[in-house]
Amino acid sequence: MNAIEKISNTDRYARCVETSKRVRWDIDKDVIRGRRFDVANNLPDGLSLADTFTTLSADERRFVSQIQGRTYANIFGLVECFINAKVLELSHDHWFGDQVALEALVRFSDEELKHQALFRRVDAMVGEVLPDGYRFDIDPNGVAHAVLGKSTWAVLALTLDIELFTQLHYRESIERDAGLSELFKDVFLYHWREESQHAILDELEWVRHDAELTAEQRERAVDEFIELVAAVDGILQAQAEADAAYFTSKCGRAVDAAEARAIGAAFLKAYRWQYIHSGAQHPHFGKVLSGLITEKQGQRIQAALATLQ
Ligand SMILES: [Fe+2]
Ligand SMILES: [Fe+2]
Repeated sequence: MNAIEKISNTDRYARCVETSKRVRWDIDKDVIRGRRFDVANNLPDGLSLADTFTTLSADERRFVSQIQGRTYANIFGLVECFINAKVLELSHDHWFGDQVALEALVRFSDEELKHQALFRRVDAMVGEVLPDGYRFDIDPNGVAHAVLGKSTWAVLALTLDIELFTQLHYRESIERDAGLSELFKDVFLYHWREESQHAILDELEWVRHDAELTAEQRERAVDEFIELVAAVDGILQAQAEADAAYFTSKCGRAVDAAEARAIGAAFLKAYRWQYIHSGAQHPHFGKVLSGLITEKQGQRIQAALATLQ
């Protein structure tokens, strides 16, 4: 057992509370600071997969990055809705127990509500500089109801995947892309600062919940996790199609059917990377997951992920 493993779970919750207090930020005072979006990239090349859009000019790739930035805000607004509902539900388990754990989850929930507000602002601000016609037709409440219909184990697996990939998104935003919007960089930075605690809490809650399951329940939960990933992919497919159609109608030149298909495929590839694989391939996700499931269950999950390429 190493030093980290010796830390008790109560201490882990306490550390999350402590850090949450220390890093707490305000949407206007810290993140937006009176700024507006300009024509810079909204997502770093390593996330927007700019190189995959092989037929586009540099200006067109920037437009793609702005569209993806707006979709980023909308997707996070959506996932944070169900994450928050699940966190509030889990907090019931601590009502009359560990009050530090309860405080950690209450802060988690409060932060997600703030993040949703931040992403609504980002969506509106990017909307001010993009041409009319952008669409995001997925209803966050409808998705939240569908997701929360699955078992807690499956929802926590998906949540850890999501909250770990915000760390990678932040890292991408500070490396490699000199043309990245300063305001978007700060969105990644401040979001990551609070998400780092969420990922720790997801793991604590997931492992705690897992210990209460029978092997049969876990077996079913693995299937439900695979179903949730497929549902996320359905959302990404719909949005990739919408964003590709928006791009081709507003890019200012004719795009033939073959190029339109290639652009649609590139959007989907980028979205699958951003919202599924960048978390699923995170070493810590693999470590926590493999500690809970059998090798066979792991292979089932890997096989399902491999179909989303
Ligand atoms: Fe968040
Ligand atoms: Fe979070």
